[in-house]
Amino acid sequence: MHDKILILDFGSQVTQLIARRIRESHVYSEIHPYDVDEAFIREFAPKGIILSGGPNSVTEPGSPRAPQIVFDLGVPVLGICYGMQTMADQLGGKVELGKLREFGYAEVRAHNHTSFLTGIEDFQTAEGHGMLKVWMSHGDKVADMPAGFKLMASTPSCPIAAMADDERRFYGLQWHPEVTHTAQGRAMIDRFVLVLCNARADWEMGHYVEEAVEKIRAQVGDEHVILGLSGGVDSSVAAALLHRAIGDQLTCVFVDHGLLRQNEAEQVMSTFADHLGVKVIHVDASTAFLSKLAGVTDPEAKRKIIGAEFVEVFQAEANKLTDAQWLAQGTIYPDVIESAGKGKKGAHTIKSHHNVGGLPETLNLKLLEPLRELFKDEVRELGVQLGLPPAMVYRHPFPGPGLGVRILGEVKREFADLLRRADAIFIETLRTTIDKETGKSWYDLTSQAFAVFLPVKSVGVMGDGRTYEYVVALRAVQTLDFMTAHWAHLPHELLGHVSNRIINEVRGINRVVYDISGKPPATIEWE
Ligand code: XMP
Repeated sequence: MHDKILILDFGSQVTQLIARRIRESHVYSEIHPYDVDEAFIREFAPKGIILSGGPNSVTEPGSPRAPQIVFDLGVPVLGICYGMQTMADQLGGKVELGKLREFGYAEVRAHNHTSFLTGIEDFQTAEGHGMLKVWMSHGDKVADMPAGFKLMASTPSCPIAAMADDERRFYGLQWHPEVTHTAQGRAMIDRFVLVLCNARADWEMGHYVEEAVEKIRAQVGDEHVILGLSGGVDSSVAAALLHRAIGDQLTCVFVDHGLLRQNEAEQVMSTFADHLGVKVIHVDASTAFLSKLAGVTDPEAKRKIIGAEFVEVFQAEANKLTDAQWLAQGTIYPDVIESAGKGKKGAHTIKSHHNVGGLPETLNLKLLEPLRELFKDEVRELGVQLGLPPAMVYRHPFPGPGLGVRILGEVKREFADLLRRADAIFIETLRTTIDKETGKSWYDLTSQAFAVFLPVKSVGVMGDGRTYEYVVALRAVQTLDFMTAHWAHLPHELLGHVSNRIINEVRGINRVVYDISGKPPATIEWE
């Protein structure tokens, strides 16, 4: 059993980061809604509890509160932003409705040396006050601390910026230690989790392999499992993990929709079937997909067709495997948190994402999700531990509908072939061009990069002749979460080189352009 930290989510945009930071300190943590019941919290048996930030005001009637048990369990509690305010309110302090919103960088003065901040500071003022550089985001503030609390930090506009009751081990921070803009955030999280909660730092992927293998074996017994292998990181790591756990009881179905990248199908087959000895059924369904897509130009319609056809092809294969009782999926922790939060914030669907939802029911199979506790970084680390090639595990993400959303308008085999070749040249160049300053390749310096096929023709000249051919756009972005992204400032020489190669080597393309739109307002994919 791992020591666990419980994070109660009050709806902040950055709650996930709290869990990630704690896991980076090798302590296991989970996020649950703020209103879970007492029995759940007791059973969870946390070594410490964190109350996240949130969009509400404690001063509004009916605004969320932490269950009373949080303060009665006798474990350390850290309230962050809204979490601090509700802690203050629930323990008898006072929260004031803010007139001004303080948002962004702030320098706070650390007071007294509470066990939370001892030894943690960024610089000292001329008078010798310890100062912290932090990221604040709040409207309301704590006006009176509850009995037993001492002032831990302040700014001129927020006199109670942090508070501590060392006796009961209750702490409140008005700033966000989980974001990287808080310079000592890592030290603050470590202090709370490792020192004040005294949680064991035993969450490591190297050890997790054995634990996960045992769990899968116990769950599956001698039954059989099917997995849809896409070549993406999550399904690949799930396949490798399941294979380690149950060997031949796993059959993977790899549906090739004809919209994969260059040599991708060969790579998937060689890594899994040849190298790891995984049973993989390779279904070349490109003709079926392309004929269903013929004449369809609307992006959402294309996505729906690809999604539905995928389900159909997969289902037909699965039906042949009559001894399978389980369907495994590469669901990861952010998907779990996201779907738990659905409906709460009324988020709009910008693009309908491709997944295989609904399959377990129609196939009448039990659902197995061996990665559902893991963040993406952890999935990657696990993949490497399981012997997958790092280049595969650290690959840029690739959307389920594949080149289908990178060929604008109607998808044709001819367009996919041209795009694949252009894309391969771009990716190869990014991998081999090393940035002098960082020593890293441009592939590693970008979060996602690819070519997009534009079905418009423009005039060019090659040798002595006039050409009238298609256009390819290059897209490269840098982002941490794929929710917002900047276009990558690739070196001009690199872009020039890629353009020359594409135009010279890919007959049918005579013009290459570079996409310099950020997200928002543009999305990363073009469709
Ligand atoms: P957008 O284009 O919405 O993409 O800025 C954000 C991230 O999501 C990926 N993406 C998808 N992934 N199925 C997927 O599995 C999809 O339908 C899909 N659409 C977009 C995109 O590649 C980027 O990483």
